[in-house]
Amino acid sequence: MFGKEIKSITDLHCHILPGIDDGAENLESAIALLKEQKAQGVDRIVFTPHFWSFQKTVKQFSKDRYNAAEQLAPYLDEFGIEWGAGAEVRMTPELLKMDLRHLNIVGTSYFLLEWPFTQFPLYGREVVEQIQDLDYTPIFAHIERYDYFWSNPRELDDYIDEGIVCQINPGILLNSDTRKYALKMIRDGYVHVLSSDAHSMEKRPPHLKVAYQIVEKGLGRRYSDKLKSNAECIFYGHEIE
Ligand SMILES: [Fe+2]
Repeated sequence: MFGKEIKSITDLHCHILPGIDDGAENLESAIALLKEQKAQGVDRIVFTPHFWSFQKTVKQFSKDRYNAAEQLAPYLDEFGIEWGAGAEVRMTPELLKMDLRHLNIVGTSYFLLEWPFTQFPLYGREVVEQIQDLDYTPIFAHIERYDYFWSNPRELDDYIDEGIVCQINPGILLNSDTRKYALKMIRDGYVHVLSSDAHSMEKRPPHLKVAYQIVEKGLGRRYSDKLKSNAECIFYGHEIE
């Protein structure tokens, strides 16, 4: 009825690169995460270490990311995983004074942005515009973590009209207390991408397979396939509908 089911999974947000942030501590942990991703059907991964403006320069960040990716590259080849590099950029007022080029997902115009968790920042709109002025499309990371958006989704309407992409983590679907509302948010068009945000096998293991199964069971395959194809489009730098 809806064509062939999309089997392969693309992960656009994770902390698997070894030793660069609070994700995989070392190469061994990173390989364990890759194995688990592969077992779940993940064929494409964008590595998005945290970028905190107060911690290091963009140049230093890019260098550290390159070195970490170089360590992991042979294993990615072995597992047959296509990969890309990006950053999860924490929104801070300092961003307004910075050149934000080179923090996008390499080879695409997408830019993964993490908002503050507690309060809507007054400078938030300005940061988004700064990113858009570079012709980048912001992806709002794990929107379920910001109550000012998650409980008031109409606050996202203008952003979504501008083409901004909203991502959620599997946890909000796996938790039976929050599942129903998360499915409603997907159905209502407030969620465009599902990503693992995996940190380690202990702290936050990847759970994409089961999360997609929950979407399929709750809303139908049309929705789970759409989320999968959106992530794949972004990976290859294409626009999503
Ligand atoms: Fe993250």
